Amino acid sequence: GKGDMPSIDPLRIVAKEMKFLTGNIRKLLGSGHPSLDRAAKYYTQAEGKHVRPLIVLLMARATSLCPKAPQRQQATLQASAAIDSSISPLSILSDWNPSAVAEAEPTPADADILPSQRRLAEITELIHTASLLHDDVIDHSVARRGAPSANLEFGNKMAVLAGDFLLGRASVALARLRHPEVVELLATVIANLVEGEFMQLKNTARDETNPRWSDETLTYYLQKTYLKTASLISKSCRASALLGGADAQTVDAAYLYGKNLGLAFQLVDDLLDYTRSEKELGKPAGADLELGLATAPLLFAWKTIPELGALVGRKFANDGDVARARDLVMQSDGIQQTRALAEDYAQKAIAAIDSFPASEAKDGLVEMAVKTLQRKK
Ligand code: FPP
Ligand code: MG
Ligand code: MG
Repeated sequence: GKGDMPSIDPLRIVAKEMKFLTGNIRKLLGSGHPSLDRAAKYYTQAEGKHVRPLIVLLMARATSLCPKAPQRQQATLQASAAIDSSISPLSILSDWNPSAVAEAEPTPADADILPSQRRLAEITELIHTASLLHDDVIDHSVARRGAPSANLEFGNKMAVLAGDFLLGRASVALARLRHPEVVELLATVIANLVEGEFMQLKNTARDETNPRWSDETLTYYLQKTYLKTASLISKSCRASALLGGADAQTVDAAYLYGKNLGLAFQLVDDLLDYTRSEKELGKPAGADLELGLATAPLLFAWKTIPELGALVGRKFANDGDVARARDLVMQSDGIQQTRALAEDYAQKAIAAIDSFPASEAKDGLVEMAVKTLQRKK
């Protein structure tokens, strides 16, 4: 809502780059084994929202106008020098060329987005899709993106292996970027996804039959949320800025944008689980309580309704627990408080990139934060 200003469409700003995304991802996923090939590409058939690649590309374009780091690959130069002092750091610097690894030369019009940054966008979608393949197995999900989930279509074993295959191919593509710091960031994301999922399976820091609400309750949830959702978005924003050669301040700003946007994104996801229908979401609604998960709306309700503690402790497993918990959440201001917290994070995301020079891509990033709050699926 910007009065009568024409609304910004973030997708339009990087539409040319996004057009090749799914095709390129499918190329990265080719396997000689027909059924692996089919399972690996399955979630690329239904059009996803492609939120992560979109953010990576907008960040690439927005940071191309920011100050550059004095020296690229400082850490690598030092490491190489330590191993072989006969190689002059300067010759390594001039040899290092991220464009050399990509097949298509950018046309001058989109030279501000490097081939390595486009490849990064594909890698983020691969890692995300791998996590969905595994997630649907763990959650016993039957639907994803309006179609049967991969575990339903191919069985658990093949869905897990397909996810592993995606991670393998993502790792190959990542290594080919020849940027160790970016490899380290995205490898950390993969570990973080697992850590977040583990925290979620445990639900609270300690296993208790009747846990009591404390400030730690929310801290634990937000840490879990960072690991399972915001880590990928924030670290890929950081990687996008790094690949473009941005200076440290810009790289940190990109990271902060992604972190806050990621937290806002998951908070909205968690409240939509309470407020939307399966038809609207393209995946089962009200799934979190059924899975025994206490997300933000319930945690905020629990603060004022202590009886929810016993239900959290037994993961809503008794007959009527899910319905009871849902009623209590809906009677409380849990949904509103979740939305307010999401708005805080979206504001912080926008503030993080305040120092970026004005550009369409920057407006696109701001609009992504606004849209995150407005989305209905
Ligand atoms: C979706 O959450 C799931 C995630 C954001 C991450 C899941 C992570 C793992 C399964 C760890 C292992 C994965 C990899 C790639 C190492 P959700 O269940 O809340 O969302 P949904 O409603 O879309 O299913
Ligand atoms: Mg799930
Ligand atoms: Mg899950």
